[in-house]
Amino acid sequence: MVKWIEVNTYEEMSRIGAEIFVKQLMNKPNSVLGLATGGTPVGLYEILVQQNKEGNISFKDVVTFNLDEYVGLSQQSKASYWTYMHENLFNHVDIEEEHIHIPNGIAEDLIIECKEYEQAIESAGGIDLQLLGIGVNGHIGFNEPGTSFNSLTHVVELTESTRTENAIYFEEGEEVSTHALTMGIQSIMNAKELVLLAFGERKLDAMKKLQEGVIDEQFPASQLITHPNITIIYGGTK
Ligand code: GLP
Repeated sequence: MVKWIEVNTYEEMSRIGAEIFVKQLMNKPNSVLGLATGGTPVGLYEILVQQNKEGNISFKDVVTFNLDEYVGLSQQSKASYWTYMHENLFNHVDIEEEHIHIPNGIAEDLIIECKEYEQAIESAGGIDLQLLGIGVNGHIGFNEPGTSFNSLTHVVELTESTRTENAIYFEEGEEVSTHALTMGIQSIMNAKELVLLAFGERKLDAMKKLQEGVIDEQFPASQLITHPNITIIYGGTK
């Protein structure tokens, strides 16, 4: 079932999204969380950091899996999702480094890396709560239009539109990765609960399409509305 929550401000979206995560961690301190990157979840992470500082939630027993990572970027690269996650969340909360999972974009064998990532999710007992953003073209993680709904963690070639969209996160002169590792659409659908955040004019078309409810592999996010427990928090698109 889809729970749609329309909000007026970015702050409201972040607060409502964060509340779902806080509740999850209060109910199950050893939750397995699926995490996302991009500009959208930054506000939600700020609230989680604050809640952790105030002692309302702990990440001590939390295990995390990130959706995706660029191929060819080391952890030290500023544009890597490893850096993003540490700067926005992990460096500021009491999480154990060995509980953090982010696909390794410089693994010697990327296919094996994907298989092992999927196995690690399974061994952790599956994802309890997965956070998601949405790309302008409806991509989820880095599952670009045309990706099979049955896909598990895999290597993808990024579309020109996604590379342009994400170029702002790369340093000047640094080439935007052409490929990425991403959890598949099926890996995402396997999570027990999903929270999708979308805010702003840029996401207007994608959100309209999602609300139309046509399920189509050319619009990866459309599969999400078949999930039994998904909350979509969106706004700023009027
Ligand atoms: C990237 C990420 C996605 C994210 C999307 C939107 O492509 N791989 O997981 O949802 O960007 O990013 P933003 O929130 O900055 O619009």
